[in-house]
Amino acid sequence: MTIAEPVYTAGGPALPQERRLVTSIPGPRSAELAARKRDAVAAGVGTTMPVYATSAGGGVVVDVDGNSLIDLGSGIAVTGVGNAHPGVVKAIAEQAERATHTCFMVTPYEGYVAVAEALNRLTPGEHAKRSALFNSGAEAVENAVKIARAHTGRQAVVAFDHAYHGRTNLTMALTAKSMPYKKGFGPFASEVYRAPVSYPFRDGGMSGPDAARAAISRIETQVGADQLAAIIIEPILGEGGFIVPAEGFLTTLARWARENGVVFIADEVQTGFARTGRMFASEHEAIVPDLVTTAKGIAGGMPLSAVTGRAEMMDAVHGGGLGGTYGGNPVACAAALAAIDAFENDGLCEAAERIGEVITRRFSEIAGSDPRVGDVRGRGAMIAVEFVKPSTGEPDAALAARVAASAHTQGVIVLTCGTFGNVIRFLPPLTIPLELLVEGIDIVATALRDAAHDAGT
Ligand SMILES: Cc1ncc(COP(=O)(O)O)c(C=O)c1O
Repeated sequence: MTIAEPVYTAGGPALPQERRLVTSIPGPRSAELAARKRDAVAAGVGTTMPVYATSAGGGVVVDVDGNSLIDLGSGIAVTGVGNAHPGVVKAIAEQAERATHTCFMVTPYEGYVAVAEALNRLTPGEHAKRSALFNSGAEAVENAVKIARAHTGRQAVVAFDHAYHGRTNLTMALTAKSMPYKKGFGPFASEVYRAPVSYPFRDGGMSGPDAARAAISRIETQVGADQLAAIIIEPILGEGGFIVPAEGFLTTLARWARENGVVFIADEVQTGFARTGRMFASEHEAIVPDLVTTAKGIAGGMPLSAVTGRAEMMDAVHGGGLGGTYGGNPVACAAALAAIDAFENDGLCEAAERIGEVITRRFSEIAGSDPRVGDVRGRGAMIAVEFVKPSTGEPDAALAARVAASAHTQGVIVLTCGTFGNVIRFLPPLTIPLELLVEGIDIVATALRDAAHDAGT
């Protein structure tokens, strides 16, 4: 395979861009910290990797024992511009020296307004827009629902099978998967309904418009269009397994929503900011959502989220109805402005596409000869491999877990996902040098080859 120039250009990698194991994984210092964690941190807060990080940049994370790991996870799709991106670090330092917090609702500042202007400019559609800033993806989703309800005067909200929208009460209700996100945490918010989604690998290849009509029929019969404030959907369903709905599913839904006065919310918390090779995943099918929720990649690792949408919808909320103490914190806004500059000017959409091509090509080749690879899908630097038991086509979560665990011990950070837990997902920083990416996916591919086939398959 010919490898293009390393992708990382923004200020040059501060850390050697190499996989380097100087201890077993985890090393002794990580093991010590894991013991302290067991005694100090609530057991419900899980960790994927057995190592503790000290620094990260480009395509690597360095742990407390001096191991340098290949990062194929970006802290769950956050560090698209690279960890500790030099421009982001400078912006954070400069802002932190001036003021760390005044509360935008008390004494406003320019950074918040500038981030809102940038989001209004970058999100799909040429219409007049407004933005409001928050802290987490879940908080953005909660506020998008508040805005849709205020605008329509209706209460019901529809989310989809395999959806993930967060862990707060309303977003747990919107999220589909019970374990670990919902189990034991009810009762959940009311007036949330679920519709089927287009999942080409598992719905027999139903066309996008047909799958949308099935969803619309469910909504019309079980909720009623005139009761519905909003439908919310991830353009690529992230935690649910990087499910790319068949072409025409999202456009048909968006058209139906518009015709029925229903607010169409695109949850781009995971897919936004160049991750899929476009600034927003809605752009792949030229969808213009009424409201867009963003977070994760927006601020180079600082906690910031937003709702951006049609001015008349955003402005439907009474004064003081939106906000929060920390929402749009000035340091996070400074980081976001630097990150957005990098997304726009460092070729990161192109980088995402190259990354996607490399991963897809490799695993599609493997799928040709290994029937345990049921599907390879995704867009840009958001690619997943779904594992199945060849004899039955059932999801094989154990295989995904074994492959991931083996990659971890060899110094590759890789995540699983999927409603059935049988998906390995690749979300590298868009700044990863391609040689390092290839080394990382080679290790995952070898782990798959070496993972014993399940009995009977
Ligand atoms: C699509 C989507 N929406 C919402 C969230 C929740 O974001 P946060 O964890 O920042 O609350 C996530 C997080 O993974 C997500 O992927």
